[in-house]
Amino acid sequence: MNNLPSHIAIIMDGNGRWAKEKGLKRTAGHEQGAKTVRDITIHCSNIGIKYLSLYAFSTENWNRPKLEVEFLMNLLHRYFISELPIYLENNVRFKAIGDISKFSKKLQNTIKQTEEKTKHCSGLTQILALNYGSKDEITRAVNKVVSKGLDITEKTISSHLDTADIPDVDLLVRTSGEVRVSNFLLWQIAYAEMFFTKTYWPEFTTYELDDILSDFNTRERRFGGI
Ligand code: IPE
Ligand code: IPE
Ligand code: MG
Repeated sequence: MNNLPSHIAIIMDGNGRWAKEKGLKRTAGHEQGAKTVRDITIHCSNIGIKYLSLYAFSTENWNRPKLEVEFLMNLLHRYFISELPIYLENNVRFKAIGDISKFSKKLQNTIKQTEEKTKHCSGLTQILALNYGSKDEITRAVNKVVSKGLDITEKTISSHLDTADIPDVDLLVRTSGEVRVSNFLLWQIAYAEMFFTKTYWPEFTTYELDDILSDFNTRERRFGGI
């Protein structure tokens, strides 16, 4: 493919509905969804994608039942422990975006250690959005710019976002049939190509991603030009 996106962002949605349709608990959907994360990450790394951003927990997801939130926090912790060798084997650098200060100290430490232990990896950068909301990110960025006494410009805002060193999104994918962006990377998707699929995240495959990449390959991006 001659035109591969450098940055793919995915809104991983539909874990709960996938589980419900199978007569399982919603948590089984999250468990299966974590496996899809591994498959898609390894695939993106193999085909030479530079940045993969995955929406894992939004600033609005705290509104879910307490038990589901607790399950997700535990799942995240288990995920980082099990994935560290996978990151290292695949030369994947891990980076978190979002306000992780709202997580337990234990989870925060695990997240920071995973970043630290993979920072030398030079292949794919996998970015997980954790307690992430775009409005929150932009607000935090603007506050940082103001407190440093800098002018508020596109450049200073961009360079104070959690994604400061990461290029804008080229391709945004959302699974599960919902056609909305739910507060994900609003600034960074300004010129992203969008792709929506009905597939639930636990069933999303590398084959379907390849189809989306072929479609992306045919799109003409004009960035306001002609
Ligand atoms: C996405 O799946 C995962 C998270 C938001 C944590 P959902 O849990 O939103 O699944 P549905 O949308 O209810 O099916
Ligand atoms: C978006 O999914 C957040 C994540 C995928 C982490 P939601 O399921 O929370 O979004 P809405 O509520 O359907 O917009
Ligand atoms: Mg959902």
